[in-house]
Amino acid sequence: MAALALAGALSCSAPPEPTFDEQVLAQTAVGHTLPRNFLLGVTTAAYQIEGGNTASDWWSWEPGRFPTGRPHIAEDARSGRAVDSWNRWTEDLRNLRSLGANSYRLGLEWSRLQPSGPDSWDESAAWQYHQQLEALRAAGITPMVTLYHYTLPQWVADRGGWEAPEALELFRAFALRAGRRFGDVVDLWLTVNEPTAVSVAAYGGGLWPPGVSDNGRALVVLGTLVRAHAVAARALHTGDTADADGDGRAASVGFAHNITLERPASGAWLDSVVASSGDQLANEAVLRAVLTGSFDLDIPGAPSVHFVDPSLRGSLDFLGVNYYRRDRLRGDLSNLGRPAFTVPTDDTASASDWELYPQGLYDALLRLSAFRWPIYITENGVDDAADTQRAYVLRSHLWAIEQARAAGVDVRGYFHWTLTDNFEWHLGYTAHYGLFSVDFADPALPRTMRPSGHVFQEIARNIGLR
Ligand code: BGC
Repeated sequence: MAALALAGALSCSAPPEPTFDEQVLAQTAVGHTLPRNFLLGVTTAAYQIEGGNTASDWWSWEPGRFPTGRPHIAEDARSGRAVDSWNRWTEDLRNLRSLGANSYRLGLEWSRLQPSGPDSWDESAAWQYHQQLEALRAAGITPMVTLYHYTLPQWVADRGGWEAPEALELFRAFALRAGRRFGDVVDLWLTVNEPTAVSVAAYGGGLWPPGVSDNGRALVVLGTLVRAHAVAARALHTGDTADADGDGRAASVGFAHNITLERPASGAWLDSVVASSGDQLANEAVLRAVLTGSFDLDIPGAPSVHFVDPSLRGSLDFLGVNYYRRDRLRGDLSNLGRPAFTVPTDDTASASDWELYPQGLYDALLRLSAFRWPIYITENGVDDAADTQRAYVLRSHLWAIEQARAAGVDVRGYFHWTLTDNFEWHLGYTAHYGLFSVDFADPALPRTMRPSGHVFQEIARNIGLR
């Protein structure tokens, strides 16, 4: 009897596992449990959309080739005009409004604002950013602004990029200036986008500038980026003293952390080892560092990195979570630092071979809630030119958020990656993440809403935003 009662009590208190069935979700009013002040928006990154950012390290990287002869950018593409958003931002704003978004995450391109050195400042560019931010506010769209989304001014790269002794000071000064100049229209800030992704791709895998293939250096740069977040967060709080939305807080600062579910590809011991160290690297180490002030990484195949920096503690007002996929990892004893990825063979694989796994967002949110930061999903999306998966991606990840909130997790917003197709880093223009497609053959770069844009609108309606 007692055992039965206990079983009953347990089953009452444990939240039911949500279902992510596509047919069921298509019949569900996804979003209807979210409050009106929930932020529903899209994310962009300055370099990927603006065009003409010629003073950046990416600009000089693009025309190069890897030692194998492969071009740095797929199909030898250049960012060039990108989608010309610098000149077409009013059209982009119209499209944002048509989606029913009440928020927009966008980037400031450091190399545009400070094109030639620490004392340079392009006030006409600053003026235009300010105009955009004001226009967003006037349209009832809350901006969230990213300071560093993978691109450095060339003059910073020339000094050694994130490995330069003065890198933290240069970033701090930029953040202070950004806070002062845009603080009257911005309250939500992200310092660094995906510290792990950029350190691994640029310094470990040699895929992005500066093209270094050294896991040890990548881990050191990761630690530097966590510290860059902390110094920029302090500078933003100093520089931004204007409360743009009147909620009593002039600035809330986070960074966007790419959370990836790292799972073993099989029951083999080695697969579990690489999955667990992958989890340390991708997810845990950075969060522990900002929680405790102690950065500790012991990854097979790379020298350990440990340091204590008390200023990391308390540097996060909220956590930005970029969530796209689950990885299934296979270890290889002869190359422990580079586990292989198993690509799903069913329709859970995106065109970029990322495994779509919305349940993983739910699981990650429950795990992250232990850290007690408010959470925004600052990116989620899919490479899907044919638009056959995006509707499900939207519904299922918003559903995961609703279920996590019902289980007590403080999730305050969702930003979809991305508004229009754009320059997708090393993939050039071969990946398609936009709610709007872009006709790159037409010099006017016309944007057309994909059918999944209507699902975004439907979710906005279910929240009560349209
Ligand atoms: C990055 C974006 C990128 C997207 C899709 C994210 O992790 O922040 O810049 O375009 O992934 O690859």
